[in-house]
Amino acid sequence: MSLPNVISLQSFGSEQDLTITPPKSQLALRGRIQIPGDKSISHRALMLGAIAQGETTIQGLLLGEDPCSTASCFAALGAEISELNTQQVRVRGIGLGQLLEPTDVLNAGNSGTTLRLMLGILASHSGRFFAVTGDASLRSRPMSRVVNPLRQMGATIWGRKDGSLAPLAVQGQTLQPIHYQSLISSAQVKSCILLAGLMVDGKTTVTEPSLSRDHSERMLRAFGAEVTVDPETCSVTVTGRATLQGQTVIVPGDISSAAFWLIAGAIVPNSDLTIENVGVNPTRTGVLEVLQEMGADITQENLREVAGEPVADLRVRYAGTDERPSLRACKIGGKLIPRLIDEIPILAVAATFATGTTVVQDAAELRVKESDRIAVMAAQLNSLGAKVTELPDGMEIIGGTKLSGTEVDSHTDHRIAMSLAIAALNATGTTTIHRAQAAAISYPNFVPTLEQICQ
Ligand code: S3P
Repeated sequence: MSLPNVISLQSFGSEQDLTITPPKSQLALRGRIQIPGDKSISHRALMLGAIAQGETTIQGLLLGEDPCSTASCFAALGAEISELNTQQVRVRGIGLGQLLEPTDVLNAGNSGTTLRLMLGILASHSGRFFAVTGDASLRSRPMSRVVNPLRQMGATIWGRKDGSLAPLAVQGQTLQPIHYQSLISSAQVKSCILLAGLMVDGKTTVTEPSLSRDHSERMLRAFGAEVTVDPETCSVTVTGRATLQGQTVIVPGDISSAAFWLIAGAIVPNSDLTIENVGVNPTRTGVLEVLQEMGADITQENLREVAGEPVADLRVRYAGTDERPSLRACKIGGKLIPRLIDEIPILAVAATFATGTTVVQDAAELRVKESDRIAVMAAQLNSLGAKVTELPDGMEIIGGTKLSGTEVDSHTDHRIAMSLAIAALNATGTTTIHRAQAAAISYPNFVPTLEQICQ
């Protein structure tokens, strides 16, 4: 497929090269953008719909590869899920504790959320056996963070390296409640334990160092579970045995996808973009706070609440002048990290175009995402001419260097592919991003939207 002027896509079997050549005359990004549904909420809507009683309808589901993995796993476990589309997906739930023993291995593909959350559900299905796996990236990601607490609850799980790597095998058991003090702030860990706790007699509590995204808590409550939160101690408690009732879920746009356009608008001169219908749950808006501190001109319009989640339209206008670039460096660390963990690759791009030195720290989690996002972003941005130094738990980015187009690689990580595409918009010459098809994991329409705003 070839797209006009600035952008072209070339396919080689299952792989794609995305080539971006910004015009010599200035490129201003303008228009209104619709973004795909939130990935975290899409996974949870499918999972809770599958284990609830009755019917759940989902509007605005993300049709990325990750939620498709969740849908196919839960269909194999006995839930009836209609054809996936963005208008309305119907899930006929099978009822808590009623999932069937599948006849084959469950494959979570590239999706850590699918595998880790599903493990909590499966481990509590007494008397049934499940085998789970994923793609090469997922099979290299740490699973002990969920396997250990589940074992403390009485789960029986086997796998490579004592159950720390998929493929994993689960023999469902009747589990016991725990109070788990997590050493990392991870919504996947928290949600896995809470989902296991649904099927346990008594109260299951997870305490984390700082609050991670709270979509599970919100949705579990909406489906009828008793969930209490102590914000002082960052603790969440679920009371089992819960009864979940199917609901209507309206999925807001994914702020992690909106972040690419926010930063594109903030770095490309004369841009003015409005991104519609973005979820602005406070556990996810760290990226807005950082961009504001960096000097970006972003306004929230039409703030409203949709199905228990806050939503707004976000408008970004380029804030620089002929004399000074639009952004300045900042420090990113501490409690902010779980509130913007997925946005750090694209924030690294923003920092590349900012004045001063940006430091990202306390973000060692980035090393165990779909790729080692610290190493990969540093190497790829540096090959474009940036000055990024890896730190054990983050990176240091000296802003203000000019980027020039070259060949870069996504390492099959969706957020790396898209971050490099945005960097390429502000580079001179041609950038080719190899294995750009990875974007479809969370953003199937990324390239058409890129083309739309470049016109
Ligand atoms: C997610 C939680 C985060 C995030 C991931 C989605 C979720 O992972 O990076 O993309 O939906 O719960 P961690 O829980 O590992 O931080």
